[in-house]
Amino acid sequence: MTILVTGGSGQVGTALAGLAERIFPVVAFARDDWDISRSSDAARWINADTAAVVNCAAYTAVDHAEDERDLAFALNDAATANLIETCERFGTPLVHLSTDYVFDGTKPGAYVEEDAVCPVGVYGQSKAAGDMHFANADIPHVVLRVAWVFGSVGRSFVETMLRLAPRDELTVVNDQIGGPTPARAIAEVIRTILVGRETHEPTKHTIAERLRGASGVYHLASEPTVSWFEFAETIFERARYFGVIERVPRLLPIPSSEYPTKARRPNNSRLAMKKLELAFGIHPIDWRPYLDDFLRESA
Ligand SMILES: NC(=O)c1ccc[n+]([C@@H]2O[C@H](COP(=O)([O-])OP(=O)(O)OC[C@H]3O[C@@H](n4cnc5c(N)ncnc54)[C@H](OP(=O)(O)O)[C@@H]3O)[C@@H](O)[C@H]2O)c1
Repeated sequence: MTILVTGGSGQVGTALAGLAERIFPVVAFARDDWDISRSSDAARWINADTAAVVNCAAYTAVDHAEDERDLAFALNDAATANLIETCERFGTPLVHLSTDYVFDGTKPGAYVEEDAVCPVGVYGQSKAAGDMHFANADIPHVVLRVAWVFGSVGRSFVETMLRLAPRDELTVVNDQIGGPTPARAIAEVIRTILVGRETHEPTKHTIAERLRGASGVYHLASEPTVSWFEFAETIFERARYFGVIERVPRLLPIPSSEYPTKARRPNNSRLAMKKLELAFGIHPIDWRPYLDDFLRESA
């Protein structure tokens, strides 16, 4: 029995594939092999022997989504509904990833799972629509909301900062705060959710038992909370320490109003995670050692 991962070439999908082992038998699919917008692909891969599905595939281009509303909703909304439906046919447990962008960022404190969603952009709206389908899902499931993901592949803020490092000066937004979340840590959390401390190969039954009664939406927090500007300062300081860059560009803090983007973004992306601690014994992540590992590997 294997755990099937969609979006296997993405940040979280790649990290999950990297954790594959006997106790965590993951098979990750690239888009060519499993396109989530084609219902026939879900029907082709999910069957009675599937231990669980982890949906890491998504439309994630936040700014482009403003011009590609139909595509964003086809992947983040309709395809999620289809995955749930196919999993329901076999009673397959499903882990799905969601985002802090389902909130508008105006709350003074960290967002809890019970807070009403109020996305300010198309991407957030399409992800919130996807989350809604789980309200009536008749399968063991976890919707894991994460924020500010960085990983070893693809585009992330860390990759962008390193690419821009040769510049003399960089302006970085300092009025959006959140917890940068390593893709590898997300993968480890998903492994804990699905198999915990199991020492035997998981089955659909053992995973379903773990999720039964615990199905729902969960927030994953990563600490310490920083602004993009503070995150950039840390990235450059650590990148120079590990010899990834030779010199640090001069960093200038600016408000979001001076960095116009097609999509509005929430100013507060902080997620509170009491629920995940209570249900699965998972504590908030400290992103700093993961950043160091990432930079050490890039050196
Ligand atoms: N990145 C963030 O900062 C962030 C923040 C909060 C939440 N999240 C959520 O976390 C999850 C994983 O994000 P990520 O950062 O790993 O995303 P990512 O790196 O952008 O990866 C997205 C994956 O989805 C695949 N994909 C796109 N369209 C597809 C389709 N039609 N069928 C199958 N696969 C398709 C992509 O394949 P290709 O490589 O072929 O395009 C890629 O493998 C998503 O649900 C996202 O909404 C991300």
